Amino acid sequence: MSLITLRSAMLQAEKGGYAVGSFNFFGLENVQGIIAAAAAKNSPVIAQASPGCVRHMGEKGIVGMVRGISDDYGVPVVLHLDHATDYDTICRCIDNGFTSVMIDASSKSYQENVDITARVVEYAAQCGCSVEAELGHVGGNEEDVTVDERRALFTEPDKARQFVEDTEGIDALAIAVGTAHGFYKLPPKLDFERIAEIHRLIPKTSLVLHGGTGVPEDDFRRAIQLGVRKINIGTELWYCGYGNVMKKYAEEMPYNSDPRKVMAHVREECQKITEHKMDVFGSTGKNLV
Ligand code: 13P
Repeated sequence: MSLITLRSAMLQAEKGGYAVGSFNFFGLENVQGIIAAAAAKNSPVIAQASPGCVRHMGEKGIVGMVRGISDDYGVPVVLHLDHATDYDTICRCIDNGFTSVMIDASSKSYQENVDITARVVEYAAQCGCSVEAELGHVGGNEEDVTVDERRALFTEPDKARQFVEDTEGIDALAIAVGTAHGFYKLPPKLDFERIAEIHRLIPKTSLVLHGGTGVPEDDFRRAIQLGVRKINIGTELWYCGYGNVMKKYAEEMPYNSDPRKVMAHVREECQKITEHKMDVFGSTGKNLV
């Protein structure tokens, strides 16, 4: 098995009318759990590393690890760089074998966003790497913004069409439609009409929903029906799959016991969370390789 591009996974998802989960990983057992879920569910999968994860593990280490685990479990994996803002980090990840990168210049001006995204598209094309960009701004739940302030940052459908033309070749676009990163204090209110309109205007660019943790399952299903093809899940794996599991089992461990016993629980929990998302996203059974 091997690493495949986001573009190839997205083409299949568009044909099949489902979304592929893009799961953040933070270490070995957690990415094993994500890929084990793909094997168990016969599902396409995207494993994504944030720039912080790249700093922590190194891009060569990440590529070797994810490629090896893909081989161990016999499933293809899209290896994606999530929310990168720095051109050099992106180029290093592409050079070392990431098959997909996100350039997030969503907090910059429209023109600056276009300029850096177009540079990334040009660089990535030389290696056949896929590119995701962001227009509008998703932001985080921890940010102290009002509902109206958040709405002001939603993706404008006409601007999305212009952005896709101006950047000449992005494969996927992260859109701001009511989700945010982190746990929600109140259930999110997704702007479904906006999703449908953006999909109508840029049908060849895969739409990405960030901030997947805590989104009600019916909202996922509706967003997918309307054209969302990639859904990012981070916080749920970070806390429920990793942090809380380690805390629980590490506290129960005698001081001289095998740390792998704790980490095996991380793998199991991450697999469980990921498998469930694959069922909800409709990607179960859709791995064609
Ligand atoms: P959550 O952490 O809210 O699941 O969002 C993840 C994400 O969008 C990463 O890009």
